[in-house]
Amino acid sequence: MAAFKITGGEPLAGCIEIQGSKNAALPILAAALLHRGVTILYGCPNILDVQYMIKIMRSLGCEIEQEISYLKIDASELNAEHLSRECLGKMRSSILLLGALIGRCGSLTLDYPGGCTIGSRPIDLHLNALKAMGVHIQEKEEQIVCSSNQICGKRIRLPYPSVGATENIIIAAVLAEGVTWIDNAAKEPEIIDLARFLNQMGSCIHGAGTDCIGILGKCSLHDIEYSIMGDRIVAGTYLLAAAGTRGNIEIKGVQIKELQALLHICEEMGCRVQNCGTSIVLDSKHRLFSVKDIHTQPFPGVATDLQSQLMSVLSTARGETTIYEHVFENRFQTAEELGRMGADIQIKNNRAVIRGVKKLKGCPVCAKDLRGGAALIIAGLMAEGDSIVENSIFVERGYQDICKDLKQLGANIKVINGD
Ligand code: EPZ
Repeated sequence: MAAFKITGGEPLAGCIEIQGSKNAALPILAAALLHRGVTILYGCPNILDVQYMIKIMRSLGCEIEQEISYLKIDASELNAEHLSRECLGKMRSSILLLGALIGRCGSLTLDYPGGCTIGSRPIDLHLNALKAMGVHIQEKEEQIVCSSNQICGKRIRLPYPSVGATENIIIAAVLAEGVTWIDNAAKEPEIIDLARFLNQMGSCIHGAGTDCIGILGKCSLHDIEYSIMGDRIVAGTYLLAAAGTRGNIEIKGVQIKELQALLHICEEMGCRVQNCGTSIVLDSKHRLFSVKDIHTQPFPGVATDLQSQLMSVLSTARGETTIYEHVFENRFQTAEELGRMGADIQIKNNRAVIRGVKKLKGCPVCAKDLRGGAALIIAGLMAEGDSIVENSIFVERGYQDICKDLKQLGANIKVINGD
């Protein structure tokens, strides 16, 4: 299994253009299935999860042309019976096919989605919403069997602003009869990007980015060319890498409002943050300070997808910081690995108490999930000596080429064959 080898101690410096967003691309790819025609996407990240989704879409009968600068999808002909099961279990976002394929094909049998070990990740909110929209759903051992003659618009109140459930309802509502309203909807920027994509394709969606979204169904859709937003989590990862290595970097391709909560913490840690209009500059000259309690929350709160990376950076700050993880129940696995590097982190239920130590020491560690892997790479960049981060495959699920990006910022990192 491949691994990353990192020699720490180099402050990151320079400018980087951020890749397209994984968490916008995946729902947009699923939504492309709604249209009996051609979609051309620019900025679609070349990451494992996108490769899995492309494989699934090809098995459904999509013709897909993947070039460096664009992805062309022709979804004129679809047949849900040919759905390949091989990739379904590999990633959670396969659940987003539900809304699209029921609308297009009327029936679908889907395996329960797999994915990271960060929590049990039930899909009850997705299924309850689709049932409310008139979809007949049978849950069998490993599979969900769905059918519907016609999806119906409905007012749906989500008990929790789930990102995936909000996206699935939006996608299903595009081909539904009548109007669908989602109350307590998720407000993530990726939801805005999905709605912008669908509106440009001819749909009629209002309120994306707020907690109340309205979708008028059955609008006629047409061919489209669309540029996917930049990845705010990748951007946040690199900003934190600069903060932890006392670096100075400029990132391009994401909007500052998508990272407000994180940038406030960076300033509290003692970094200087500048909004340069089309780019963000972060300068970190000194040892960081600990900060007030951090609580992960749905957007616009602190993103759970940056929690592990924050833990790495705060492990050498002056003082003690407590992080509360409120979104996923098993997302502190990286703490143990950071402990091997000399970090002092005590976990109790959903709380991590991080007592800053002077230095981390490079050593072999193991990535256990996507963002945890990125956090260990940051720790390796901050540490004294060499670190080996095993299971690079986790990181490749969401980072197009983290080695090339970090090298461009002056890091000493490479991919090696592990164990
Ligand atoms: C999306 O996952 C992201 N994935 C996740 O990013 C991100 O961590 C998460 O939103 C929260 O921001 C993609 O966009 C592909 P949720 P999703 O539904 O849609 C519970 C990364 O690292 N829940 O908002 O799965 C669930 O268990 C990934 O890029 C139910 O109980 O997140 C969790 O505790 C990791 N029932 C909470 O809600 C449901 O039916 C948030 O889940 C659905 C969710």
